[in-house]
Amino acid sequence: MSLALIIPDRKLDDLQQRLSQALPDTRVEIWPDITDPAAVEFAVVWKQPPGSVAALPNLKAIQCFGAGVDAILADPTLPALPIARIVDPALTQTMVRYLDGVLSYYRLRLDLFKQQQQQAVWQPKSPRRIAHICVLGLGELGAAAANYFAALGYQVSGWARTAKQLAGVQCYSGDAGLAPAVAQADVVICLLPLTPATDSLLDGPFFSRLKAGAIFINVARGAIVDDEALLAALNNGQLQGACLDVFRQEPLPAQHPFWQQPNILITPHVSAVTNVSTVVAQIADNYRRSQTGEAMANLVNLNKGY
Ligand code: NAP
Ligand code: GLV
Repeated sequence: MSLALIIPDRKLDDLQQRLSQALPDTRVEIWPDITDPAAVEFAVVWKQPPGSVAALPNLKAIQCFGAGVDAILADPTLPALPIARIVDPALTQTMVRYLDGVLSYYRLRLDLFKQQQQQAVWQPKSPRRIAHICVLGLGELGAAAANYFAALGYQVSGWARTAKQLAGVQCYSGDAGLAPAVAQADVVICLLPLTPATDSLLDGPFFSRLKAGAIFINVARGAIVDDEALLAALNNGQLQGACLDVFRQEPLPAQHPFWQQPNILITPHVSAVTNVSTVVAQIADNYRRSQTGEAMANLVNLNKGY
């Protein structure tokens, strides 16, 4: 009986070692070096090559190595198995800290002063007025971000699929709730999952509904945004700036116009990276559950896609 790590874009020695310590009776192997595919009953997966999971005939369950499962579900050969995802207070805290930093960047006008520095311009300006923040997606990460900014005294609105109640947050839901949720926002943060319902959801009509001069932050998935519509909104002043941590194609291709857009701040998908040391326990626990037939923690609803 063995456990496979199918995570091609990370060094896995640490994860392999820690899982082997937590599960001393289980062989933990790194794909593609799997001794016996028929012996693998549990796979920890992230951006797997299509077909790699389907090649494990006795797999019982899949553990996503991150919070978002869109890349796993995109594999057309994926077997119909339970999938759990990462929900980790440390990951949530990392995301909230990133968003807090980005908000300070815009509030202190560091975007403007960086441009002035490049032109040797000395022109003081008082901080930007940011009063209202809207968070799209009020799940593990979105609700934490909304609560955090509400506690700091910002006006906060939020949008989810189903109705929510969060103290200090004006919550909206459903298709009809999107426009009123964003209408007054100085900053809009996207923390939605990528699903068929959210693919390219943030398009031209969406950006035209925002307050003129709003700032947009995407820390969810690139494909939720229509790139051309975002560029148009940045060029016509509808948006003052955008901070993008995620992209339709990653790494962002060198010729992509986002690189040259002066009012875009790019970070390379670093806002909340899964931390091996804080997630090993929940992965080992889900492995044990899959062995005993108990439901895994943090199961993905495959009908909803998140
Ligand atoms: P989550 O707990 O599943 O929450 C998702 C939220 O989005 C829920 O509130 C859900 O509404 C809402 N939602 C889903 N579909 C919707 C729709 N069609 N219309 C309106 N609202 C919708 O997810 P999470 O853990 O907060 O993570 C969110 C996303 O962040 C992940 O899927 C991942 O893509 C991204 N992420 C990025 C990084 C990074 O480093 N950049 C790190 C971690 C996660 P309901 O509550 O009503 O179901
Ligand atoms: C990172 O993007 C994640 O979904 O955990």
